[in-house]
Amino acid sequence: MSQKADETGMMKAILAKGDAPLEWCDVPKPVPKAKEVLIKVAAAGLNRADILQRKGMYPPPEGASDIMGLEVSGYVEAVGSDVENWRVGQQVCALLPAGGYAEYAIAHQGSVMPIPDGVSLHEAALLPEAVMTVWANVFDMAVLHPGETLFVQGGASGIGTTAIQMATALGAKVYVTAGSDEKCKACIELGAEGAFNYKTTDFEEELKAVGGADVVLDMVGGDYLPKHINASKFGARILHIAVQGGLKAEVNLLKVMMKRLTITGSTLRGRNDLDKMHLADMAVKEVWPWVASGQLRPVVDSSFAMKDAEKAHERLTSGLHVGKIVLTL
Ligand SMILES: NC(=O)c1ccc[n+]([C@@H]2O[C@H](COP(=O)([O-])OP(=O)(O)OC[C@H]3O[C@@H](n4cnc5c(N)ncnc54)[C@H](OP(=O)(O)O)[C@@H]3O)[C@@H](O)[C@H]2O)c1
Repeated sequence: MSQKADETGMMKAILAKGDAPLEWCDVPKPVPKAKEVLIKVAAAGLNRADILQRKGMYPPPEGASDIMGLEVSGYVEAVGSDVENWRVGQQVCALLPAGGYAEYAIAHQGSVMPIPDGVSLHEAALLPEAVMTVWANVFDMAVLHPGETLFVQGGASGIGTTAIQMATALGAKVYVTAGSDEKCKACIELGAEGAFNYKTTDFEEELKAVGGADVVLDMVGGDYLPKHINASKFGARILHIAVQGGLKAEVNLLKVMMKRLTITGSTLRGRNDLDKMHLADMAVKEVWPWVASGQLRPVVDSSFAMKDAEKAHERLTSGLHVGKIVLTL
């Protein structure tokens, strides 16, 4: 391993400790294994999964750190003996299984990406989780085509704001839901063709009125599935990425057969390193040009010093945010 000289062997980080307030505490600095990269963190993105992890509902995969945080940007500090593509000092961003709320974070070499042109180092921390989730589902699994219609639940979320821009850049039409008229307006400003306030309108009827969806990206589940089936076009693909509204749904199988629907879903965190490497490759080849051309920008709701992560979590839990929240060092 080539390693710069630091060398207290300790660093500051934030561990997931249930509902206890988040503390900026001393922990051992990680050392990269053969295929890993050690990143000196400049910024970390917040995700809904971080809130779920604190509640014990989304544990890190086996062997992953107890330090919170799924995505970072920063500088390569050291590389493992088998790492060929990354050099000490390069600016990078990365998807992590855990470990991002820290001064130093470990990433598998295949989950590390260069900072795209057009964004700052801090903004780049907000790209990996959302871009790779949207690519995995909407582009890889559902194969959204230009001219098709994508319907996104939670259009003002980190995932939603990214999906609107990526699908629009592809040449698809996007409709979304959001929980307030202000959030609906923000989604339209980002490129959505229409936005339905799910608290005051019936999104199923609204979506039917505009012709239905070819692809649905759903983070709610529960009794939304029958509505999505009703408002889907023939051959539609319905993707589940979260179950905020319930784990179970009743499905009319005859409608699934008659419309020849695909109903599926996925999680990003549980994917293996090879899968994540594929998604990182697609991000760099297909999505970074959209960032460089200004068609995709992370929507930064707010920024907090990393030691104030508790306040950042309060902002995310309040549901008032549009886009993503960033922690900086
Ligand atoms: N499976 C995966 O691989 C994967 C990866 C990343 C994220 N996710 C999931 O994707 C979701 C978004 O993640 P994020 O980090 O971007 O979180 P976030 O910004 O906190 O977004 C949560 C969103 O859910 C929306 N929502 C909640 N209840 C709703 C309802 N009944 N109807 C319609 N929308 C509703 C909220 O809408 P309003 O605020 O407008 O009310 C908000 O936009 C989370 O549930 C997260 O767990 C899954």
